[in-house]
Amino acid sequence: MTRPSVTPPTRVTVPEVRAARAGGRRIVMLTAYDYPTARILDDAGIDILLVGDSLGNTVLGYESTLPVTMEEMLHHTRAVARAARRALVVGDMPYLSFQTGRRDAIRNAGRFLKEGGAAAVKIEGGRKRADLVRALLDAEIPVMGHIGLTPQSVHLMGGYRVQGKKVDQARALVDDAVALEEAGVFALVLEGMPENAGRAITEAVSIPTLGIGAGRFCDGQVLVFHDLVGLGEGTPPKFARRYARIGDEIAAAVGRFIADVRDGSFPSEAEIYSAPAVVDQRQAGRS
Ligand code: KIV
Repeated sequence: MTRPSVTPPTRVTVPEVRAARAGGRRIVMLTAYDYPTARILDDAGIDILLVGDSLGNTVLGYESTLPVTMEEMLHHTRAVARAARRALVVGDMPYLSFQTGRRDAIRNAGRFLKEGGAAAVKIEGGRKRADLVRALLDAEIPVMGHIGLTPQSVHLMGGYRVQGKKVDQARALVDDAVALEEAGVFALVLEGMPENAGRAITEAVSIPTLGIGAGRFCDGQVLVFHDLVGLGEGTPPKFARRYARIGDEIAAAVGRFIADVRDGSFPSEAEIYSAPAVVDQRQAGRS
């Protein structure tokens, strides 16, 4: 019997993302860390699944992204890559996977492609990363940049603070963006900056800018999945629109399950397996 052929969705590619801006298409990126969530986001039509090192806060319970290791990132990247049929999968280079030198950076970035199934990596930092971006491209590894509020620099910034508020700081961010574009990044995350800085950067470069707390003039937007669906702890950041309250729904569902078990209404007759043979044998033993 011949099976009906199912055409797989066309994969979003790095050149396509780079060209999206010229085509007037807004790129939408979300973080993902596991198979079932990545599958849902992919089916929903998300363009890029970022296996962010925000994994540390959202899934692993760390206080910052700094403790996240390469092995943890690869473990989760593999799960996301197995789920993604259409979306571009980008692996986030964790702290100390690239800051220790070019050789380490190429090896670790390469592991995202070779072992993790990602198609590109993201690295935090401005113009000081330009040479590294070139080295990664030489090793055939596409790179997404990330400037502004870069969480791996939390201690240097003195906390998670909006960056580029002063004119000279905003200009420095524009210079960072231009340097990264010249080095060859295919897209640029702009995090935690005033809208006018996000706008100035977007106007200064020709690659797509993906904003997270960087205002309305970026070419696309990215959010942390847990903020979007209400799965995070505490109040979400000002820029994160909450589209659902999944955490509350889970708590309510589990509360109902606990009550049903305690009052004996779970499992019901419809939720049990019948085993007549076992009953028959017991009855046979008694006679
Ligand atoms: O790790 C992450 O989730 C990120 C996004 C905030 C862009 O870097």
